[in-house]
Amino acid sequence: MKVIDSIFQMQSFAESVRLQGKKISFVPTMGYFHEGHLDLMREARKIGDCLVVSIYVNPTQFGPKEDLSKYPRDFDRDCRMAASVAVDVIFYPSDKDMYPAHYQTYVNVEKVTQNLCGLSRPGHFRGVTTVCNKLFNIVKPHVAVFGRKDFQQFITIKRMVADLNLDLEIIGLATVREADGLAMSSRNVYLKENERSSALNLIKSLKLAQKLYNAGERNSTIIINEVTKLIKSSPYIDIDYIKICDTTTLADLEEITGEAVIALAVKVGTTRLIDNHVFGEKLNA
Ligand code: PAJ
Repeated sequence: MKVIDSIFQMQSFAESVRLQGKKISFVPTMGYFHEGHLDLMREARKIGDCLVVSIYVNPTQFGPKEDLSKYPRDFDRDCRMAASVAVDVIFYPSDKDMYPAHYQTYVNVEKVTQNLCGLSRPGHFRGVTTVCNKLFNIVKPHVAVFGRKDFQQFITIKRMVADLNLDLEIIGLATVREADGLAMSSRNVYLKENERSSALNLIKSLKLAQKLYNAGERNSTIIINEVTKLIKSSPYIDIDYIKICDTTTLADLEEITGEAVIALAVKVGTTRLIDNHVFGEKLNA
């Protein structure tokens, strides 16, 4: 496995792989790997001849009061885990190369970024789309693999790729969960032991929402009220949002008619967790 930290070298390497007629698959990450990341890498491994994984904690997607400086990092452990799933290249750029002096260009996907996490994290998706666009131009992938755990991020990236005619395919994979159903996240390490059972209310509430849906309920307010009661039934919980949205526009739905997602963002203690479920899909828990 190669580690490349220069943008120029990554671009030259990607170009040489393309000239050999080989397919590049790509998994962008912020590191501190867990099984969710590895699942994306295993899938990307199957699709491409050359698998590139980026590790970059992107400052432009963190708000001024967010956890940029304390975001968990362990580069050596990440390299060992990546090697175990046969990654070919780790791309590990520095801030000064990604955002040099006089940097001033950003990509903004306008509508799907407004609702959900866009309400409480202004500027977050602008940072995500900007860095992904840059990474796509540097790694030159044919296919990039994302997790649907970050559902709004996945929809936003797909929107950007379609709208800007970027020449790559975006694949989204189902959420990987711990044995108890908690969605894997690099941020789970922040959870204190006594907060863990409260965190499980997220998956319990997604299951409840699906159960209500199975029983024929289509009114969003009724489902959201039930879910809210369940989530609030444990300590250390502070709800940011619980919403039911159209999966293409991410606009709020009064009634579930077409394909809909229930999306949650909840603070457990000081840790902000997100989770979601598309009605009718399998829940991996
Ligand atoms: P990060 O949080 O490191 O996540 C990298 C990728 O792993 C994303 O596509 C995310 O959706 C996916 N992922 C995270 N937890 C998952 C889980 N439990 N199951 C399946 N997939 C999971 O998302 C980012 O980094 C950044 O915003 C990035 C896209 C790299 C841009 O900076």
